[in-house]
Amino acid sequence: MNNNQKKRVFSGIQPSGNLHIGNYLGALKNWVAEQHKYENVFCIVDLHALTTPQDPAVLYQKTREVTLLYLAAGLSREHCAIFAQSHIAAHSELTWLLNCVTPIGWLERMTQYKDKAAKQESVGTGLVDYPVLMAADIILYDTHYVPVGEDQRQHVELTRDIAQRFNHLYGETFVLPEVLIPKAGARIKGMDDPTAKMSKSGDKQGHALHLLDPPDVLRKSIMRATTDSLNKIAFDKENQPGVYNLLNIYQAITGHSEEEIIAEFDGKGYGNLKKGVTEAVIATLEPIQKRYYEMAEDPAYIEQALKEGADRVRPIAEHRLQVAQKNMGLRK
Ligand code: TYM
Repeated sequence: MNNNQKKRVFSGIQPSGNLHIGNYLGALKNWVAEQHKYENVFCIVDLHALTTPQDPAVLYQKTREVTLLYLAAGLSREHCAIFAQSHIAAHSELTWLLNCVTPIGWLERMTQYKDKAAKQESVGTGLVDYPVLMAADIILYDTHYVPVGEDQRQHVELTRDIAQRFNHLYGETFVLPEVLIPKAGARIKGMDDPTAKMSKSGDKQGHALHLLDPPDVLRKSIMRATTDSLNKIAFDKENQPGVYNLLNIYQAITGHSEEEIIAEFDGKGYGNLKKGVTEAVIATLEPIQKRYYEMAEDPAYIEQALKEGADRVRPIAEHRLQVAQKNMGLRK
C-alpha cells in the first residue's frame, strides 16, 4: 500500500444477494486483471445493502460470502486491501459532511434511485442518500480510478460533482475520481429477459448466472436463455438483444474480437452458441468455486482478512476525513 507511484483504485459490491456473472464481468474480473497496476482498495459495501430491507443474519453471512468471492476470484491480499465498509466509521462520518453540500435535486435525478423508488411504497432516506455514501467511499481514499459496470457511471459522475463542490466551497480537499468501464461485459442482461439488467435482487430461476451456481444450473439457465427467431449470429443490440447478450458474455470472458467470435459461431445455430457460452462460463466459474469452498472451511481466515484490510485502510480514511473536518471549521 505504500508504493507512491501507483494510482489508487477503489470499488465495492453490495452484499445484498447472490453475486452473478454481471458483477464478475462488469467489475470483479477487471479488478483482478489490473491489480498489479494499481494500489487497490476493495470494499464490501454492507452499509449500502441496508438501503433495502435485509435480514441481519443473512446480511452478516453475505458480507463474508462476498469477501471470500473477492479472494476466490483472484484478488491478492498482498496487493489489495479488502474490508467491510461498516468497519471504517469515516465512511458514515464523511457522508454527513457531504450531505451538507449536496443539493437534494442531484440525488432525485439518479436513475437507479428513480427505478428503485418506483418499486417501493415508501422510500427510505438511505435510498435517496445512497450515492452520497458512495461518494464518501470513493473520495475518502484519494481515489483516481473507480472500476465498475455501466450502471454505476452516473454515481461516479455525481461523486465528481460532489467533490468539486466541496473543493469549491472549502478549498482543495478531495481528488476527483475517474470511472473505468470495461469494453465488453459492462451491461449484462438477464437470461430470461435480455432487455433487463441482470440483478442480484430477486432469485427468479433462469434470470441470473450466479457465481456459486453448480454447472448444471448454469447450463440450464444458458440453454434456456431468451433469443429470437432470426437465426443470425450478430452483435446487434437493438434487434437481437438476447443473442447480443450471449455474445457479450462470451467476449468479456474470452477477450476475443467481435470478428473472431462471429467467425467461430456463424451459421451453426443458437444451440451451438449457447453451448459455447455455457462451456466458457463453467470453465471460468469452476476454479473460483473450488477456491471459494476450500477457503470457506476456515471462517477465522475471513475474519482475519477483513480485520487486516480495515486496519490497512483506516489511517488513509481518517486522514482525509480530518482534512475535510478541518476545512469545514470542525477542528484545528
Ligand atoms: P452493485 O453491488 O450493484 O454491483 C457491483 C458491481 O457490479 C456491476 N454490475 C454489473 N456489471 C455488468 N452487468 C450487470 N448486470 C451488472 N450488475 C452490477 C456494478 O456496476 C458494480 O461495479 N453502488 C455500487 C456499490 C458501491 C461502489 C462504491 C462501487 C458502493 N460504493 C464505491 C464503486 C465505488 C453497487 O450497488 O454495486
